[in-house]
Amino acid sequence: MNLMSANGLALQLTALLEGLSKRGADAEGGVTRLLYDRAWLEAQHYLAERMKEAGLDIRYDRVGNLYGRLQGSDSDAPVVLTGSHVDTVRSGGYYDGAYGIAAGIAAISHLRETYGTPLRTLEVVSLCEEEGSRFPITYWGSGHIAGKHDINLAPDILDEEGISLHAAMSLAGFGRSEQPDPRRADLAAYVEVHIEQGILLEKLGQRVGLVDTIVGQRRYSVHLSGVTNHAGTTPMLMRLDALAGAAEMLGLLETEAMVEGEPLVATVGKLETAPNTPNVIPGTVKFTVDIRHDQEKSLTDFSERMLTRFGQIAARRGLEIEITSWLSAPPTPMDPSLMNRLQTICNNLSLPSRRMVSGAGHDAQLFAQLCPSAMLFVPSRGGISHSPEEYTPDDELIDGAAVLAELLRQLAYDLPEKE
Ligand code: HGY
Ligand code: MN
Ligand code: MN
Repeated sequence: MNLMSANGLALQLTALLEGLSKRGADAEGGVTRLLYDRAWLEAQHYLAERMKEAGLDIRYDRVGNLYGRLQGSDSDAPVVLTGSHVDTVRSGGYYDGAYGIAAGIAAISHLRETYGTPLRTLEVVSLCEEEGSRFPITYWGSGHIAGKHDINLAPDILDEEGISLHAAMSLAGFGRSEQPDPRRADLAAYVEVHIEQGILLEKLGQRVGLVDTIVGQRRYSVHLSGVTNHAGTTPMLMRLDALAGAAEMLGLLETEAMVEGEPLVATVGKLETAPNTPNVIPGTVKFTVDIRHDQEKSLTDFSERMLTRFGQIAARRGLEIEITSWLSAPPTPMDPSLMNRLQTICNNLSLPSRRMVSGAGHDAQLFAQLCPSAMLFVPSRGGISHSPEEYTPDDELIDGAAVLAELLRQLAYDLPEKE
């Protein structure tokens, strides 16, 4: 990549990230863009304008995935797709998701200016949702594209304000039958660049992470029901205390995860108790469980063991328990031949890189069910993510975008070597 075009790509990338960070800027200095909320819509509209300026044809699908398309000369050839998710966690950082979209737009724009029309069509997608931050669903965007979600079958789940998913979708202008079906069967490859969200690359002084496998994930909602009662007049042995039961379950989960050891991780990230009043024994508790591992059997065995133990604790304490599974994603290997191409590109660009497992879930693990998929990381300062402290210096962001641009060039402008 020559200096001029590298500067062009760098300027466009940093301008896009700056612009996106303003869509959902919150009081904590982070970014909050939740599926179909106002900040989410503003971000999609902002990206649509930037994609048009970059000479891409834009379109939305029925659930709000936004595509920018650079039409290839061979209209029958399958499409090469890059991108990531536009939604964030509550008060998240500038880069999680946003970086993959911005890098995709900047890379395709650079390729268009430098090489003109590709042989294969190139597309960048701003996926509508991945995090599961507003509704108890995840991968709402890539899950529809891969056929794992179906808008018509999705239960009408509610957010914390009691707004239904379908109402929010329709209010944002989506969910209409005349809008394009999200499913894709025309993809040659999917490539996603993302921040590492961990500390390995920084610690080891490497610039690019080449993701061989994305961990599997299980996510559950646990609902415990006991009896709300007076904190002063109810003897300890006569209580059905939902929060005490939850506390025992959380302690068990952490202890058992430590015993199981790396790479298993288990997290209770959200807990609501009612009536949440100092002098009242909590009758109701809802909490989430997030369990991850890069081996399917270990993930399944640990998850099932924990749910059984939770049931035993609830029974002993006289609590009712209802467990809802809302995510089950298997550990997913990335495409070896695409990953080897990325390795060669990093070597040719003299970028220190390492093969690694992703402890974070990503849309690439949904696309891997559809087409050869690849994922690369750039370092996260201090390994921090899902926080306003999330940070990656521009030069490292530009490295990742340059590697992405070269792989897209190979896939869309030169037919891959015959295997
Ligand atoms: O939670 C995750 O792994 C991702 O950031 N959604
Ligand atoms: Mn995330
Ligand atoms: Mn992400």
